Amino acid sequence: MIVPPYKVKLVEPIKLIPYKERKRAIEEAGFNPFLLPSKTVFIDLVSDSGTSAMSIKQLGSMFSGDESFAFQEGFYILRKSVKEHFGFPYVLPMHQGRAIEDILFEILVKKGDIIPSNSLFETTRVIIERNGGEPIDLPGDGGDIDIKRLKDLLKASSDCIPFILMTLTNNTRYGLPVSLDNLRKLSLLLKKYNIPVIFDASRFAENCYFIWKTEKRKKRFRDVVKEVFSFAETVYMSTKKDGLCNTGGLFMTGSRKLYNRVIEVMTVKEGFPSHGGLPDRDIWAIVNGLEETLEEDYIQHRIYQVEYLHKLLKDKKIPVFDPPGGHAVYIIASKILPDHQFPGFALASEIFVKGGIRVGVFGGDLAASDTPEYIRLSIPRRVYTERHLEYVAEVVGSVVEDAEKIPRLNITYLPREMRIFGARFRRAE
Ligand SMILES: Cc1ncc(COP(=O)(O)O)c(C=O)c1O
Repeated sequence: MIVPPYKVKLVEPIKLIPYKERKRAIEEAGFNPFLLPSKTVFIDLVSDSGTSAMSIKQLGSMFSGDESFAFQEGFYILRKSVKEHFGFPYVLPMHQGRAIEDILFEILVKKGDIIPSNSLFETTRVIIERNGGEPIDLPGDGGDIDIKRLKDLLKASSDCIPFILMTLTNNTRYGLPVSLDNLRKLSLLLKKYNIPVIFDASRFAENCYFIWKTEKRKKRFRDVVKEVFSFAETVYMSTKKDGLCNTGGLFMTGSRKLYNRVIEVMTVKEGFPSHGGLPDRDIWAIVNGLEETLEEDYIQHRIYQVEYLHKLLKDKKIPVFDPPGGHAVYIIASKILPDHQFPGFALASEIFVKGGIRVGVFGGDLAASDTPEYIRLSIPRRVYTERHLEYVAEVVGSVVEDAEKIPRLNITYLPREMRIFGARFRRAE
């Protein structure tokens, strides 16, 4: 039996507001759950990002924050920790993941470049495009990159490919992991071309858990993590996910030249290289969060919660994406509402009205994705109990049972970029 490896010390009360108020709230949010005020939400599964419960060690260590302008104590502690766990000599903190993407791609991507990947997150894609590059998703099995298609692309265009970007886990491909075998093949292939691999390792621990499990836990979990990181020349991560923090990001590299260039750009855009816009207290929280995410009982329970919700929904015959990934359960909304134009938003709105549960909507036309519109039930780390997940499954089950009553939605507003996060709808007449 897998039991949460923590006990509760502090609680945050949550309340299910009355039905009429939930109906009004979703209408006022334009039927887009991203736009709901969080105080109207009972159980919030809209994102696993920045939503983790911090530990007493993390919160306690924040009092050690050395709020000096430059080269504060936290920076040195971070450097030591990154070297020990991930093997990189150069590290820079930043205020969140997309700030690093912005700086890194300004440096590495030029007009006409092609950036192949196993699949990119929305912000990553847009930032590459803004720098004149063309992101190309080459999803393979699970969260892998398709090596055969990559080989063909390299043969035709290797001169325009400055790096390959691997997202661990593959968020837009249902949170599935990249396999060790895929990383080995990728590394072998790229040696011929002398093209580096960059990881977006925001969910590295969840990715490494699946590898650890496949390898029958023969090594220590943290040794698997170190091995996986050895396949990248440069890594960045949002520490709002597996860093178990409410904010932050890290850039790590083995290249002194790239490190120096990132320092120049970040000093203009984000802040001094020893903090990158973060107070030192948050750097202490990152150091301890990374240490805790490498604990075997933590990561095992984390993945168990995702598998548990997946099983509960599957038992109710809800069309979930199989197998479950590391941070969320994905429901294929288009299978439940096949004749809706926006099945994800329609289903998500109904789930909120029924039970005060907020979920994310991704994929489909609005995300310019080749996946169908789906809803993502992300599980915040260390926040909800299995009982909360049982409630979620009950609510989703009863909404799907009455699916034919769910109103269709028409679009009323569409932003130019990051469209799913800002789109607004109204009920069709
Ligand atoms: C895979 C991936 N990369 C990058 C980011 C951006 O990170 P941040 O939210 O810290 O800017 C996210 C955010 O959800 C993500 O899921």
